[in-house]
Amino acid sequence: MSTKINEVKSLFEAPEPYLKRRRFNINIRAETVQYFLRNRDFTRILDVGCGDGSASIPLLAAQKSLTLLDLSQNMLAIAQSKVPPGLSKNVQAINQDFLNANLQPGTFDLIICLGLLAHVDSPKDVIGKIAQLLRPNGLVIIQSTDSGGFLTRLGVSYRRILEAFGRMKYRYTLTTTNQVVQMFAACGLELSEIYRYSLPSLPAIDRIFSQRALYNYVRLAYGPAQNNYNTWPGKECIYLFAPTSRPPSPHEFAPTASAIRD
Ligand SMILES: C[S@@+](CC[C@H](N)C(=O)[O-])C[C@H]1O[C@@H](n2cnc3c(N)ncnc32)[C@H](O)[C@@H]1O
Repeated sequence: MSTKINEVKSLFEAPEPYLKRRRFNINIRAETVQYFLRNRDFTRILDVGCGDGSASIPLLAAQKSLTLLDLSQNMLAIAQSKVPPGLSKNVQAINQDFLNANLQPGTFDLIICLGLLAHVDSPKDVIGKIAQLLRPNGLVIIQSTDSGGFLTRLGVSYRRILEAFGRMKYRYTLTTTNQVVQMFAACGLELSEIYRYSLPSLPAIDRIFSQRALYNYVRLAYGPAQNNYNTWPGKECIYLFAPTSRPPSPHEFAPTASAIRD
């Protein structure tokens, strides 16, 4: 394993700080996934970097299967503990680095990948493998932090200072929205929906305000996925990608140039 993967694994082998301090954001991600899938059919789901499974486990049903994949054994154990007992036979758990996992190409009709791209060396390889694992007409819901724009550059500078003082275990991999869109386009997938928002990013803000207050702030400032406003300062992006050949349905949001700006 590369050094970065070791560092990522060791960070998330202690899942509680992430799950406790980011609960409001985990809930926002899970609700966005639910909204993006409102009119969609899917049966075989893969959740890459599943964390505690909050985004994918609620999608499970008797006729669906779910593969939970995470580098962190402890994170995966938490996710497995949340699977309703009657559905556990529909769930497979894989404790491996995604790029090294031996998965059958063309298997899944929904792949979810939230909060992973910043922690891998090559987002392009991850996106390439996701595309390879999709069935024809398969969908991808993926999150990344848009590293373009003033606000993100401020955040990145703050992280670089922390890195210089040894406070960060590894360097986040940066991607812009345009890069993500282009990488998927190269795999034959196009942007179908996007939810853009920013996290309140002052240091230790989650120690001052409750998770409910942080959740309410995001919803007040940016709206829910069905009515996303103030997108211009939003650097957290949750995307739905679908095959390029699929004609958009009348209900779907056609992304504007500003929605996919850098
Ligand atoms: C920021 S958390 C996001 C968890 C969850 N998807 C969510 O949105 O709350 C990133 C997760 O990805 C996992 N992860 C990071 N790198 C990975 C890799 N190369 N392969 C598989 N899982 C990985 C971590 O262990 C961690 O659980």
